[in-house]
Amino acid sequence: MSTELNQLAEQVARRRTFAIISHPDAGKTTLTEKLLLFSGAIQQAGTVKGKKTGKFATSDWMEIEKQRGISVASSVMQFEYREHTVNLLDTPGHQDFSEDTYRVLTAVDSALMVIDAAKGVEDQTIKLLNVCRLRSTPIVTFMNKYDREVRDSLELLDEVENILKIRCAPVTWPIGMGKTFRGVYSLLSDEVILFEPGSEKLLTDVEVIQGIDNPRLDELFPLEMEQLRMEIELVKGASNEFDLQAFLDGTLTPVFFGSAINNFGVREILDALINWAPAPSERDATVRSVHPDETPFSGFVFKIQANMDPKHRDRIAFLRVCSGRFERGMKIKHLRLNRDIAASSVVTFMAHARETVEEAFAGDIIGIPNHGNIQIGDSFSEGEALAYTGIPFFAPELFRTVRIKNPLKLKQLHKGLQQLGEEGAVQVFKPHSGGDLILGAVGVLQFEVVASRLAAEYGVDAVFDSTSIWSARWVSCADRKKLEEFESALVGQMSTDAGGNLAFLATSRVNLNLTQERWPDIVFHETREHA
Ligand code: G4P
Repeated sequence: MSTELNQLAEQVARRRTFAIISHPDAGKTTLTEKLLLFSGAIQQAGTVKGKKTGKFATSDWMEIEKQRGISVASSVMQFEYREHTVNLLDTPGHQDFSEDTYRVLTAVDSALMVIDAAKGVEDQTIKLLNVCRLRSTPIVTFMNKYDREVRDSLELLDEVENILKIRCAPVTWPIGMGKTFRGVYSLLSDEVILFEPGSEKLLTDVEVIQGIDNPRLDELFPLEMEQLRMEIELVKGASNEFDLQAFLDGTLTPVFFGSAINNFGVREILDALINWAPAPSERDATVRSVHPDETPFSGFVFKIQANMDPKHRDRIAFLRVCSGRFERGMKIKHLRLNRDIAASSVVTFMAHARETVEEAFAGDIIGIPNHGNIQIGDSFSEGEALAYTGIPFFAPELFRTVRIKNPLKLKQLHKGLQQLGEEGAVQVFKPHSGGDLILGAVGVLQFEVVASRLAAEYGVDAVFDSTSIWSARWVSCADRKKLEEFESALVGQMSTDAGGNLAFLATSRVNLNLTQERWPDIVFHETREHA
């Protein structure tokens, strides 16, 4: 027994599960690809995304993504690096799919923030960091694109500190930029890593010079070294030193500089994740906290993805393992339905291929084929009623009613919308007064995805019309009678979502405020967690 426990603890300690977050175009996809190349998980550039070559892979499953060249679906990639198992969760950069991103962030233990150094902190970075802050997720920062003319590095650190409200500890420091980008100086190991352009460069090709006072540097860059040494003195004096505990608490971020496209600075990031980022730790499961090295298996679903592979027309529920050992063929309990499922065809995601899982441990993501019984937020275990919390749904900001051209397809429409609602692709509200179903989204592209999927997967031609709804609020009340009273008094504005939750559809902010004033016992929720 104790050796089994030790083995579990060992497996947990060697796991790192993180997501890359960034504003679109900062270089997330490029960096993902370089991380995979670096670790040896893929051999060829262009495997993750090839906008220009026309090759599309993991993150570009859907037709709509191909047309627009954006990445809608998050994907999961697992690879080995320095005797660790790394799980990398991709997030859609486009803000219209931010809900999906928020949910992915609940399944990771740390995040890698990529910033385009020519642009600095952008809108989407701010939003994503706010989400990371909710769970005090440790953040590693990568300032990208130093092979181009970028902004002043000290100014960039200042911006991160002031706007994102997180202290910066530079771990490397860039030497020049653009045409005169020479490399980075490592403040911790006192060495200069020389930059050489080239996307396939690996560690062995890179020259490292020990010591900032090394005369070799003066030989190479006679005109620049004096200035650089002064700058480094200044940076050392003016910036925070790296502090592991502050990083783990989410209040300080180690900052690295480089160029993803040239594969420069990638090793340092991977090493930081292995050396400093946390292994899976305990998680709240409502009834109690669960340790990752407890023997019984448990986990929760944070995402459902359809059409991942045209060869498999199915839906995959992505489950983050939170404790124990998952073994192929074992019986696991679907807690909401109180039903055992035999997990024989569960898959894992190695770089970009899916493979059958033999075993998985806390921090790993496994994919369960799903025929409609699994919803986002569902917990699974070996029997104990553990309900993992924190998977958010946000009150939508955009609404459309949906109708169909061919009334004979009504059943397919309802089935399609129910499934897309459960997947979290869009929120579906069924008005209590009857009438057309109402779709709610955070970003307008979600409607396009729904329309194209309804057509492709359910054979339904749907038409979306605008509505007078301004926002939705999930409602609850300790007093069951009061809630019923509220429901019948405002039946014209009441609805039920795809998860069976009661929601009030407000026509304007004034309408919402007035209703809240009139019904002080009713609680109006802007987000809902999966119960
Ligand atoms: P994203 O996933 O965050 O949206 O960004 P992505 O990696 O697609 O990169 C956005 C653009 O920035 C791409 O150019 C990419 O080649 C470029 N890029 C990424 N890293 C670097 C870097 O270190 N230096 C420079 N100079 N450029 C970088 P694109 O022309 O929009 O796309 P593509 O046609 O090259 O794919």
